[in-house]
Amino acid sequence: MKSGTDERLREAAADAMARAYAPYSDFRVGAALLCDDGSIIAGCNVENSSFPSGSCAERGALAAAVVAGHRTFTHLAIVTDAEEPTSPCGMCRQALVEFSPNLQITSYTTSGAEAGWSLADLLPHPFTPQSLHHT
Ligand code: THU
Repeated sequence: MKSGTDERLREAAADAMARAYAPYSDFRVGAALLCDDGSIIAGCNVENSSFPSGSCAERGALAAAVVAGHRTFTHLAIVTDAEEPTSPCGMCRQALVEFSPNLQITSYTTSGAEAGWSLADLLPHPFTPQSLHHT
């Protein structure tokens, strides 16, 4: 990542976290994707009184990025105010691997902790578009 980009990505995720709609869990999440052209696209979790209708921050960022014309991502930043950095849930891992199996993920807490993983480590042996084409 270019110098300063990691900080811009973290800030975008932190700004998104501030806009999270999470009245039921009170667990706010911000996510920001770094696209292959250097663009940064963010998302936040958006909950719903019908709980399963809510969406995670990571998939919010992914949908916003795709509609903006981006389909390849190099990094994902996540920000929460949890005690420890949190990794993306299983559904978000699957959603992300469709577009970027080589994604690098850094998760931050608002108190300054951070942890990093590759998506390949978090989701080994994924089901991918190629999986549909076995004959
Ligand atoms: N959440 C995310 O936004 N991303 C994750 O990877 C895990 C969970 C949200 C969903 C829900 O709004 C709240 O956090 C509690 O699960």
